Order: sequence, then C-alpha cells, then structure tokens
Amino acid sequence: MIKKVLHINGMPRTVIAQPEAMLAEVLREQLNLTGTKVGCGQGQCGCCSVILNGKVVRSCITKFRRVEEGSLVTTIEGVGTPDNLHALQMAWTVHGGAQCGFCSPGFIVSAKGLLDENQNPTRQEVRDWFQKHRNLCRCTGYKPLVDAVMDAAKVVRGELTMKDLAFKLPEDGRIWGSAYPRPTAVAKVTGTIDYGADLGLKMPLGTLRLALVQAKVSHADIRGIDTSEAEKMPGVFKVVTHKDVKGKNRITGLITFPTNKGDGWDRPILCDEKVFQFGDAIAIVAADTEANARAAAEKVKVDLEELPTYMSAPAAMAEDAIEIHPGTPNVYYEQKIAKGGDTAPLMQSAAHVVEGDFYLQRQPHLTMEPDVGLAYFEAEGRLCIHSKSIGIYLHHAMICPGLGIEPEKLRLIQNPTGGTFGYKFSPTMEALLGVAAMATGRAVTLKYDYFQHITYTGKRSPFFLKLKYGADKDGKIVAMESDWSVDHGPYSEFGDLLTLRGAQFIGAGYGIPNIRGLGRTVCTNHAWGSAFRAYGSPQSFLASESLMDELAEKMGMDPLELRYKNIYRPGDTSPTGQEPEVFSFPEMFDKLRPVYQAALKKAKAESTPDKKRGVGLSLGIYGCGLDGPDASEISVELTPDGVVLGSSWEDHGQGADIGALGTAHEALRPLKLPPDQIRQVMNDTGETPNSGPSGGSRQQVVTGNAIKNGCEMLINAMKKSDGTFRTYQEMKAENIPLKYSGKWTASMCTPCDENAQGSPFAVYMYGVFMAEVTVDTQTGKTVVDKYTVMADVGKINNKLAVDGQIYGGVAQGIGLALSEDFEDLKKHTSLAACGIPYIKDIPDVIDIHYFENPRPHGPFGAAGVGELPLTSTHVAVLNAIKNATGVRIAHLPALPEKVLQELKAL
Ligand code: FES
Ligand code: FES
Repeated sequence: MIKKVLHINGMPRTVIAQPEAMLAEVLREQLNLTGTKVGCGQGQCGCCSVILNGKVVRSCITKFRRVEEGSLVTTIEGVGTPDNLHALQMAWTVHGGAQCGFCSPGFIVSAKGLLDENQNPTRQEVRDWFQKHRNLCRCTGYKPLVDAVMDAAKVVRGELTMKDLAFKLPEDGRIWGSAYPRPTAVAKVTGTIDYGADLGLKMPLGTLRLALVQAKVSHADIRGIDTSEAEKMPGVFKVVTHKDVKGKNRITGLITFPTNKGDGWDRPILCDEKVFQFGDAIAIVAADTEANARAAAEKVKVDLEELPTYMSAPAAMAEDAIEIHPGTPNVYYEQKIAKGGDTAPLMQSAAHVVEGDFYLQRQPHLTMEPDVGLAYFEAEGRLCIHSKSIGIYLHHAMICPGLGIEPEKLRLIQNPTGGTFGYKFSPTMEALLGVAAMATGRAVTLKYDYFQHITYTGKRSPFFLKLKYGADKDGKIVAMESDWSVDHGPYSEFGDLLTLRGAQFIGAGYGIPNIRGLGRTVCTNHAWGSAFRAYGSPQSFLASESLMDELAEKMGMDPLELRYKNIYRPGDTSPTGQEPEVFSFPEMFDKLRPVYQAALKKAKAESTPDKKRGVGLSLGIYGCGLDGPDASEISVELTPDGVVLGSSWEDHGQGADIGALGTAHEALRPLKLPPDQIRQVMNDTGETPNSGPSGGSRQQVVTGNAIKNGCEMLINAMKKSDGTFRTYQEMKAENIPLKYSGKWTASMCTPCDENAQGSPFAVYMYGVFMAEVTVDTQTGKTVVDKYTVMADVGKINNKLAVDGQIYGGVAQGIGLALSEDFEDLKKHTSLAACGIPYIKDIPDVIDIHYFENPRPHGPFGAAGVGELPLTSTHVAVLNAIKNATGVRIAHLPALPEKVLQELKAL
C-alpha cells in the first residue's frame, strides 16, 4: 500500500491504495466517484478519462504509483453538478450527446481538457482531440458531440449564455416534434446515473462477487468438473455448477413449432454434458471480492473431450459434420418464399439477368458498457435480477423453467444501460445471476471484462446469400430468386425469426411480382446469434442492393434511375405480398437526384489515380414490430402531483424515456401538464406492465399506441360535461378510478405463412442512403467523406432522439461496411481489433432529410426509427467503392487489404 494526498475536484484527499491499482479503480471503488466509467479497461475507449495535472488521461491504464503526490485530479464530478452544469454538460443535453450516456463523462472530461487549452477550437481540432484521446462513442455517430463542444466553447468565450444554450419550451408548451432533452440527460452528463457496475459497488456488505469458469474450446464433451481446489481458495464462498441448478438448466426463446426440428431447449445455463461454443459458462465462483472469485475460477478443472468444430454455416452443413445438438440436424429450420408465379421461365426469357454471391459478417455490438448485473432476494423471498435486459418479460419467461423458480417469485429490472443495440434481446447473464443467488442465498454481482463481453455475448448472425434478378428490357425487375444460409451459432433462440427476415427484406423496396427462395438456419460452434439493430435486413440488403447496382451497370443505366423505375408505387406489394402503408420513395429519390448528380460530378472532378472518389446509393426498409399482432400494455395514474406513467419500454440508450414522455405529453395535452409533471416508472416486472421487448423499432408504435390509449382513458374519466377536467381531489371525491391500463394490439397484422406471405407489420420505416467515398488505391483504404440520408420515420416525436438514432446508425453502417468483424477468436477480442470506428472514421458531414408521412397506425402518425439507419447504410458505401474503383466487395468487411487485392485483380 502507498499513501498519497491528491487534490481531487479541488479538495485534498488522503488516498491509501495498492501501487499497482489503476486510478479508475481507486476513484470508483475507494472514493465512490462512480461518474468515471470503465468500458474497455484497456485504454481504447476513453470512458474513464480524467484530467490529471492538466492532461487528459485514461484512468483505467494509469497506475496509482505513477500518480504523483499532490496531483490535481478532475473527474466528471468536478466538472459540474446537476444543479450547476458546466457549459459542456448543458451542450451535451441540448445536442443529444448522451444517448446511452456511458461515454458521456469521459467525452465531457476530455472536452474540458481541450477547452482548458484552447477556447476556440475548429471542428477539425475537436475531432483530432477526441481521436488523440481515444474517446469512443457507439451511439451518436460523433457529430452531435462536436456540435456540443463548439457551442460550449462559445459559452466559455462569453459569446453565448447558458440561458441561450438551454432548451426553451415552445410557447404552446408542446414537446412533440421538438428537441426537448431526454429526462435522463442531466444524470448522464454529470455521471450521477448508476449503471450496473456502479450499483454493484453500492451493494451492501456481504454481497458476493461472481466469476465464471468458461470454456476455452468451441466444442467438447464434458467428462468431469473438479471444483475442490477452487473451493479452498481465499475468500471463496461457493463454487456453483450445473448440479446446483434447481430447474431444467436450459434457456429457450421464440422458436417455431413444428417447423423447427429442435425442441428449443438447447442452451444450457451452466454446461452439463457439452460445451457448444467458446466462452460457455461451466461454473460460477462466488467469493468476497471479484479478484478472489476470478483467481479461484482459474483453479476449477474441467475434463473435456474435444469434438470437431464447425465455425461457419457451410462447415456445419457439410456431409460429414456431426450434429452439434445430438438428435437435431445442424440445419434445423427452413423458410421458403413463394410470391407470384414460377420464376424459372421468367429468368429464361428476361432481357437482363444478374446474379451474385454475398457474405455479411458476424458484426459485434461493441457497446461501451460491458455486460453486467446483480441479484438478491427481497424480504418476502422474491428473487430480483437487475441486468441490461431489453426484454424483461420475455427474459422472465425464457429463464424461469431453467432456474426452477415459480414465475411470481422472480422479478426482473433493467438497469440504466450503456448501449445494447440488440445483444440484450437475449438473456446473457440473467440466469447465471439467478442460479448463483439461489445456490448461495446471498446477493451477488457479476461483471464481464471486455474480453468476456465480446466473446460471450451474442452477435449478428452471418448470412451466406445467393441472389438473382431477371429484368425486362427497360430494367423493370420481373423475377427474383434467393437463397440464404444463416450461421446462428449453437443456440436456436430467435433463429427462425431471423431466417424469416431474409424472406421479408431481400428485394424489399421494389415491387417484384415473382419471387422464389429458400433460407435455412444453421447450428454452428461460433458465437450464438442474437438480435442486432436492423436484424436480418443488413444481410438481406447487402445482396439485393449490391445486385441492383450490378444490374444497372450491366444495362448501362444509372443506379438511381434503375431504382426509381422499380420502387414501390401504388399497386405494388412487398416481398411478403403486403401493400406499403405509404409511398415515400418517389419523393425521396426526386429530392436526392440533384444532390446525387452533383456528388457524382464532384467525385469525377476530384478523382486522381491515387485517390479515387465515388458515390453509392442504397435503399432500406424495416418493419416496426414483432411479426403479426404484436401487443403492448402500460399504466397511467393521476396523482396529486401530476401523472405517473408506467411502462416496460426498455432503453438501450435510444431514448425510451423521451419516447414515452413525448407520446404521453402529446396524448395528455388537453390537461396542459408541464412535461416534468409526468413522472415515469420504467422497466421493472414488479411495478410496470408488459410492454414487450425493445426490439424491431416497435416501442414507439406499439407501446406508443398503448400510451395514447391509456392517456385517452384517463382524460375521458377526468372530463366534465362542460369540457373542463376534474382535479385529482374531484376524482377522489367522486370515487372515479385514478389508474388506467392502456393497451394496443396490431390486430391488422397477419404473420407470414409458409411461403412467407402475409402482412407482418402495421408500420414500416423507409430510407435512401448516399455515401461519398475516397479509396486510396495504394493502400486499399476507404474513407467516407460525406453521408446523406433521406428518411421517412413518420411524424417525429423527438428530433434529438431521431437525429441521434440516424447519426449513430450511419456510423454503425460504415463500420459494418469497412472494418467490423468477430471471426477470429484469437484476434477479434477488443474494441479496436473488432474494427470499431473512431471519430476519424466517421464523416463530420451527415445530412439528414426527413419526409414525415403520417402513419395511419402510428401514434400521432409516428413510426419507429432505430433499425432504419442500419438496414443498408453499409451497401451505399460498398456501391460507392464500386463506383470509385470498379471493385465489388461482396464479402464483408471491405478491409483495405481486400480492396487492394481486388484492385490488383482488375
Ligand atoms: S480507455 Fe479506460 S475504460 Fe476504456
Ligand atoms: S452515448 Fe456514447 S456510447 Fe452511448
């Protein structure tokens, strides 16, 4: 131990710590300054940034012994407080800089370091600063963060007042359609919100800390598990194995009977007979400290007999491959599509035929916050599990039988969450926490490090696709044939649904009358498939939007004009035979055409043999909902202080709080309530109704309608015959109920049939994307210079949230196109190695144009937004590479070496 006096946020503090401890640990765990967040823990993300003696440092890699006696340390707590925000914090709230907010303290501290040095930075200097200090954000696409710094700098220079910078409520008091900052923004920018790891540190004494014993191979039979040595390690309370699990020790989720050839109970909570993938949990050590638990986990001996591994769909489909789940074929589900007439003769007679092979990679989610959770028993014996779940009721049903607990004895709560982008549509550690709490009878916490977070959470499932278009002489597509194989990893949960997405979205956007195709779900030993934003559509559009450009080239036609000829118009139907509810594409392409033509001209003029420039387009569509008659429920209650809104609209970081508030405020407008009189209770199965999971951009539509319904019921109950409204006291006096349950079901929807024909979604989102790129022909490296988005997400509830979703989605699309992957288990184990885009990789110019066509089935005309900007943003980049260089990258990502190789082969 060493003792130092440090001046932390202006106060001298005596600190006694281990010399090798990291400053982040000391601040968080010893001084309770949990505003400093730990994301990667490896110096790659900047979430832990603090200012040390005037320099921005990453405290997760700064050893305590290297912090000099008397050092000045500024953490987010020293930058500003909720009652006294710094200009940067205010600017972050009004620019939507805090989505999940996990990166916000680090960015704000880093920006403070910049403004301390330079009060008048250019945008480029701000970008260079964040690049230099490795500040990563996965949610915002960076642009709003640079906007925020520029505005804060004006305040620092005295050119703008805090009052000018603050959001001003419109005169009519309406927040629908405005840029009202999300309710959680202030807590996020001040570091006062407690994410899972922060809550874990604040648990009572006696809380056990967990560590997992995980498989280091991808496929094996388990012969024995020896915990004896581990049990003797210091601080160990218990080593938990499958023998301690009271229930069936399996997790299941949403598989289709009888078409799925398995029974769905294929994912062990703790492995008993087999290991199915790298990282599978075999045992849990519960100890007094995390370090002791991790040390003891190393001592658990697992006797394994390795089996052949199948790390891709083609490998698992090979003739000689053994069944990964004995008794269930590796190809366990098939989904065909049959629309219109037989395509074979049409292909024969088509004037133009193009075909191609495509592969979309296993995209990792790369949230800033690694997976984390905790569990404990309430006084009445109910087990409470807190996690990053974005489907608390769904997960409740998925894990109860495995744990062997009565449903009413289990309560799931979502913590404030530092991003999920879909990986938390699957339960990750919920059942592990439950097993450990049940086996020890104690409160427990579990926190993955970033390696575990990457290697042992679900990923976007790769698709291997083949696609063929037949078009008439004018370019009108008359037939499409498709084939896709989904590498879903070893666990079947949601695999059927994902495979169905291929049928729904390959070729979507065009009124193709005749379609035949077949998709299949394949069990492999690579990472299990979980939801990822735009679920199934990036894979689908990779094929259909790349091939559209190939068809245009073959015909000598402009890619925009070929699309314009084929886009949905009245009378057309989607691949599933559904008539679009609005026809947004013609006006989008009309608006884009001059912008596109100018971009092409510019690219041509600026291209050199070394730096080739190009422009690419794509269109994207996604449905808002779960297939068929999706439903949601909320509660709304009048109180003496206003209204309490209860919902399970889980928040990945997308803005569930502002989505629900904006909708409720609009629905309650007759009451003229200020927004702060609508208090929200969210995401707790013990307190809030089942609003369904936060996936598929469904919440704004489905839960939004339920909120509207509940609020209307309350208003009707409050209405007097003269048109005025009863007060709370009058309602009480007249014995009129104060609490209402709002419900909505998408009853107009029908799920897809065996030919994938149906009307699965009530509302869709539509977008057209344009990328402008430069390809360095010496290195093969692609840089996206500018991005343009035409978006129809219906009527906009909150401008900040919607802009933020689109900026962030574009950034993830660029990463998907150019760099992101999780393939090599030895290499792809950190944020940087997985190819996450830093600020230099994302253009500062992202133009968004909205087309607010009201949706008949959306609350106040709204659709969703989250999935749209990742449907096909990547394909616009790939089409731009082709336009610039003539190289078609069909197997992602378009890494420089791949582009270079293709350039050489031209
Ligand atoms: S750089 Fe410290 S947590 Fe990522
Ligand atoms: S807001 Fe930056 S990572 Fe979520």
